[in-house]
Amino acid sequence: MVNVGIVGGTGYSGIELLRLLSSHPQVNIEVITSRSNAGKPVAEEFQNLRDMAELRFSEPEIDSYQNCDLVFFATPNTVAMEQAEALLSAGIKIIDLAADFRIKDIGLWEKWYGATHTCPALVAQAVYGLPELNRDAIRDAVLVANPGCYPVSVILALLPLLDQNSINAASIIADCKSGTSGAGRSASVATAFCEVTESVKAYAVDGHRHLPEIRQVLQAVNKQAELVFTPHLMPMVRGIHATVYADARGSGDKVQQVFEDYYSDEPFVDVMPAGSYPETRSVKGANQCRIAVHYLPDRNKYVVLSVIDNLVKGAAGQAIQNMNLMCGLEESMGLNALGIMP
Ligand SMILES: NC(=O)c1ccc[n+]([C@@H]2O[C@H](COP(=O)([O-])OP(=O)(O)OC[C@H]3O[C@@H](n4cnc5c(N)ncnc54)[C@H](OP(=O)(O)O)[C@@H]3O)[C@@H](O)[C@H]2O)c1
Repeated sequence: MVNVGIVGGTGYSGIELLRLLSSHPQVNIEVITSRSNAGKPVAEEFQNLRDMAELRFSEPEIDSYQNCDLVFFATPNTVAMEQAEALLSAGIKIIDLAADFRIKDIGLWEKWYGATHTCPALVAQAVYGLPELNRDAIRDAVLVANPGCYPVSVILALLPLLDQNSINAASIIADCKSGTSGAGRSASVATAFCEVTESVKAYAVDGHRHLPEIRQVLQAVNKQAELVFTPHLMPMVRGIHATVYADARGSGDKVQQVFEDYYSDEPFVDVMPAGSYPETRSVKGANQCRIAVHYLPDRNKYVVLSVIDNLVKGAAGQAIQNMNLMCGLEESMGLNALGIMP
């Protein structure tokens, strides 16, 4: 069994970790933290977790993780970096769902996140937790930077095209839509019901924190890669829909086969038949990225449609996939639930 701790157990990603881990056959939840709910039974706060009658929230104190093999940080940015060195020194592995270890250029991270990084040496050691790109490195990692939700949807839409050098890599446009759970559980006017329902709006057109992360990953595959990334807020709870455009190099007639071949062994990327339209609801609650690729011969462009559940393949499910790899378990263990439709 793998003994795990979850720091930030009352946030949307933390609750989702708990929901998914509750049916994982090789995981024991040793500790789950919340400063605001310390002492309270988890089952009292979340009705869907009433099975976990004996589990209580505790304060996020470093000593309480001593029996853990691995700790998930489902916390705001800058929390994990305060405890990472102590945990790693004690032989405890870490998966950070926030952005503390995602960006290799410390100056760039400090610019986008508006904070001073307290353990830059660990950033160099951290592995970006996208198994479709870094599976072997994740297996050997002690510190994994779980990717951001938008980056997962955009990067997976582009990897086969970049790998085959099939696009003008500087021509990428990623038009992305997210449900409001992407903003977390803390109340804010911007995500209140009356503000988001029956309305759609773009935000952060001039730069979102996920832009440097997407750029870093794409440019590691193709130095020329550059993109315009525009996120939108949708009146739905979960889900990301990325529509990714790029200019084709040469004919795109074989692109369907390129995607099917590239992802043929991937347990959590589903390439749909040519001409398909993936729906966010088809991956709701599932650790899946569902993709369809379209080629427009008259304009020589690709349009790739990619959907994920931001809380699952975009956060908690991805983190469990990484945990399975880091702990020598079967990669898809505990992650085989299908999406909920309708
Ligand atoms: N929501 C998504 O779709 C999504 C997707 C991918 C990645 N992420 C990332 O995952 C992380 C968590 O996101 P979320 O949406 O689940 O956030 P959230 O709903 O705002 O929850 C944050 C959690 O962290 C705890 N927390 C806050 N400050 C803390 C501190 N200083 N020390 C210890 N615990 C603290 C909170 O509980 P207490 O205040 O009671 O301690 C709460 O349980 C964020 O970094 C986010 O960017 C989120």
